[in-house]
Amino acid sequence: MIEFYNVHTKIDNSVILNNITFRILKGEFVFLKGSSGAGKSTILRHIYMDLYPTQGMVIVENYSSAKISDKEIPFLRRKLGVIFQDFKLLSDRNVFDNVAFALRVTGAKSNEIKRKVMRVLTEVNLGQKRNMYPSELSGGEQQRVAIARAIINNPFIILADEPTGNLDTKTSVEIMEILEKINRQGTAVLMATHSQEILKKYKHRTLTIENGILEKE
Ligand SMILES: Nc1ncnc2c1ncn2[C@@H]1O[C@H](COP(=O)(O)OP(=O)(O)OP(=O)(O)O)[C@@H](O)[C@H]1O
Ligand SMILES: [Mg+2]
Repeated sequence: MIEFYNVHTKIDNSVILNNITFRILKGEFVFLKGSSGAGKSTILRHIYMDLYPTQGMVIVENYSSAKISDKEIPFLRRKLGVIFQDFKLLSDRNVFDNVAFALRVTGAKSNEIKRKVMRVLTEVNLGQKRNMYPSELSGGEQQRVAIARAIINNPFIILADEPTGNLDTKTSVEIMEILEKINRQGTAVLMATHSQEILKKYKHRTLTIENGILEKE
């Protein structure tokens, strides 16, 4: 479902990813660890095809970095759920509308939108807070809204770029438990982290990257 074949990526003549090859299978939970600047976010950007390899290839489901057209990018991204350390919510919309946004652009009908949004908000325990604005929520709640938004289109994988980076330990565990639950329901997760606490507590296959090089598993 996700495959990197000898991915070599240069930006302004410096090598950012050095000949990276790995696979993520259906329904897997995989951690991506490595120090700051190692290349974790860059790997995720290759998967949502915000960046292309200089050499080699990235395959995501039936899309290839070598062949995808600009027109196909939004369709690829609907199959992925992406969450970030800083949540990236729309500050001028309430919780419901932040989540509904991703569905409205697909042309869904309002009944269907209401039903699906309430289902994912219930999934992250935020049904009661649907009318609140991001600034009225705690960091953990904001990240749960971001997770609800990420799963609304039933992605096959969640790409999480240090989703607990701005959260305390207790809140990080809450977020991890939600990601674990979504994974048990069959959605794969690829999560960049440098939290030793999380890597110790949750046992999953771990890809380690340093200086753009993937260490042997
Ligand atoms: N747009 C860009 N232009 C130039 N260099 C870049 C660009 N994006 C990333 N880099 C470089 O690529 C390397 C990897 O960056 P990346 O953001 O993937 O690291 P990271 O592992 O996610 O780090 P962090 O843990 O701090 O988030 C860094 O040396 C960074 O400076
Ligand atoms: Mg990063």
